[in-house]
Amino acid sequence: MICERVPENYNWIIKSSYPSDETSIIKKQLEDTKEFILIKGKTDIVGIVGLKKEMKEKIYIYISVLAVASIKNRSDTVLCLINKAKDLAKEMGFAEIYIDEFREPYIEVLKQVGFKLINEYLIMSKSLSLIPSFQPKSLIMVNRIAGNTNAFVEAWNSIINSGTVDDFADFPNITEEFLKKKVQKDHRLDPNGWFVAYDRKKPVGLIAVNKHGELGDIMVSKLYRRLGIGTALVHEAFKYLKSKGFKKAILKARAENVGALSFYQNLGFKIKAKEILMGARTIK
Ligand SMILES: CC(C)(COP(=O)(O)OP(=O)(O)OC[C@H]1O[C@@H](n2cnc3c(N)ncnc32)[C@H](O)[C@@H]1OP(=O)(O)O)[C@@H](O)C(=O)NCCC(=O)NCCS
Repeated sequence: MICERVPENYNWIIKSSYPSDETSIIKKQLEDTKEFILIKGKTDIVGIVGLKKEMKEKIYIYISVLAVASIKNRSDTVLCLINKAKDLAKEMGFAEIYIDEFREPYIEVLKQVGFKLINEYLIMSKSLSLIPSFQPKSLIMVNRIAGNTNAFVEAWNSIINSGTVDDFADFPNITEEFLKKKVQKDHRLDPNGWFVAYDRKKPVGLIAVNKHGELGDIMVSKLYRRLGIGTALVHEAFKYLKSKGFKKAILKARAENVGALSFYQNLGFKIKAKEILMGARTIK
């Protein structure tokens, strides 16, 4: 079996390897993928692994696609691809490599090559054909702060500092420099999809929508919870996504974040899939 690094992608392998409702998301992920390794069988290319370019200051890199066309020798093909991806990540100077995976056979092979489970996520979606009418519970205003990195960072840090680290488990402090770089390098980000809830001038809630129709970074200050602010933010995001032509809103939540899961279910989101974040060190 030959694993080669080539600067191309092969959509047909992705089509034959992922469930049909996943292929459009995977194809979009390919847009952010800069390094490909294809694997050749005797006569043709049978597998593909793509590494998503991460910012160099980070120690890790993500695998954005892992697809194998033939069922025959699948484990061997996946093994070869993953090992090659690990080598390439190491060559590129990354100490850790991560992948989000939901397909059981792939998870098994990843475990064999030293990947460990890091977090479990639920993928949820909500059709945007019928957005229920929304009655604000409070006088908190939600504003779109399109592209205003300063306002975004101010709101973000002020909200996460309203509680303990456990209250905002997924959200570290950020700087404007960090955000600007992220916007420049991560093509999925949509600075026009940033919304902040204000109590007079004080930021108390935030949501960011990306170019794939995904809701992310939903957070409400500790003392302002259960006042309908999270719901108001998501409704703004729904309207925005609908205006952009999206048919559904998608999000990913940590399986153990039971409060957030109830919040999303209350908004009409349904669980579509489970995904596991797995990681390995590239340097032994
Ligand atoms: C999840 C979060 C954004 C919800 O914001 P919020 O403004 O408190 O949500 P709302 O007031 O709009 O809640 C609407 C409904 O969702 C449900 N809900 C919200 N938080 C809940 C919780 N902790 N437990 C159970 N149900 C909850 C309730 O049904 C609630 O209605 P009710 O208050 O009338 O019972 C907020 O708790 C938060 O910032 N959490 C920390 C960050 C986080 O985990 N974000 C999600 C990452 S995936």
